Amino acid sequence: MDIFQRRESEVRSYCRSFPVLFSGAKGSFLFDEQGNRYLDFLSGAGSLNYGHNNPAIKQAVIEYLQGDNILHSLDLSTVAKKRFLERFSSVVLEPRGMDYKVQFTGPTGANAVEAALKLARLVKRRSNVIAFTNGYHGLSSGALAVTGNSFYRSEAFIHRNNVSFLPFDGYFGGDVDTVAYLRRFLGDSGSGVDLPAAVILETIQAEGGVNVASLLWLRDMAALCKEFDILLIVDDIQVGNGRTGSFFSFEEAGIAPDMIVLSKSIGGIGLPIALVLLKPEHDVWKPGEHTGTFRGNNLAFVAATEALSYWENAALAQEVRRKGLLLRDRLEDIRAGNPALITGVRGKGLIYGLEFAAEAVCKAVSGEAFARQLVIERCGPKDNVLKFLPPLTIAEEDLLHGVAVVAESVASVGVKSAS
Ligand SMILES: Cc1ncc(COP(=O)(O)O)c(C=O)c1O
Repeated sequence: MDIFQRRESEVRSYCRSFPVLFSGAKGSFLFDEQGNRYLDFLSGAGSLNYGHNNPAIKQAVIEYLQGDNILHSLDLSTVAKKRFLERFSSVVLEPRGMDYKVQFTGPTGANAVEAALKLARLVKRRSNVIAFTNGYHGLSSGALAVTGNSFYRSEAFIHRNNVSFLPFDGYFGGDVDTVAYLRRFLGDSGSGVDLPAAVILETIQAEGGVNVASLLWLRDMAALCKEFDILLIVDDIQVGNGRTGSFFSFEEAGIAPDMIVLSKSIGGIGLPIALVLLKPEHDVWKPGEHTGTFRGNNLAFVAATEALSYWENAALAQEVRRKGLLLRDRLEDIRAGNPALITGVRGKGLIYGLEFAAEAVCKAVSGEAFARQLVIERCGPKDNVLKFLPPLTIAEEDLLHGVAVVAESVASVGVKSAS
């Protein structure tokens, strides 16, 4: 491990929480060099919804590679991209009655966020954007400007102008309607909040602590955006691709965002790709106005096309919802047994957060879980929320085993902190 300390930048982070040398992965498991098996509740921060080395997706990628097909193509038209667009239309968009154009951006989520923000400003010819407390949208300058956490914000000594932060749903507790709060700001020429081009939000703030927006809040926000002629951008990078039990996280709310940002698991087995879905009337880009060398990752198109097979019927979505309820029940049990340590359970589908009263306890629980061969990370502005993000394809027994490991870890930390 010496080479990592000597040669890799101090910026490395996940490897500090899970300090072993990983060498292989299959389904819901990672393996280290000694052959130890770790259950993965991190899933590449939401990039591995279909598991590590998913057999069907891997096979499609291998066949494509063996055929000497095009790997890199800038934004040239290729067979792989054509198939992806056709499949995405027929499997995702058309069955939902959604008419969106697809913009391929550079392959990180942050670059797709940059593109969406730029386009919204271009369409509305306004500068301001509304973002929410504890939102996370990436760390390039524009994306960082709409990210709330001061840990990230304070390291960039640049202007991050033209973003107004408003309270997310539940920020002041259940009784304060933060859409009404925003409406008051927008309707008052003395509020100091300029009419924005766009509102950008996550339906569930994953990095921000697994904060779940209610369906009512999402509907009211969408209506408010219409009322004030503001574009609504939903960042579905982490909680899209089926994570909440439907392909898009906002489907149950029945809203129709002007733009949707997707990345992470759209690439099937962790291959980098990011895209913006935009309503056709907003497609005012001039050719090449938001360009980038790696917008044509054909291997990712192939993986993404194969991964969409999971959305040809309702089986995976139903399983995510069913397992999500099991997960919620078990986490509620853990909370009930540890009222002094655990202050909340939040989530939907297969993303859940277990909130601890103290950051140190949450850290210790993650450490104990890793000692028991479970990889599970923390999130939230105080890093006191344990984030459950298993692959959507996880077997029920593995899911329950992972939760049992967390229960044991909480008990062990509880005993240690009491003694
Ligand atoms: C909701 C959301 N938006 C944007 C990003 C940024 O994506 P990337 O790290 O690929 O730039 C993330 C990454 O975690 C995310 O969760």
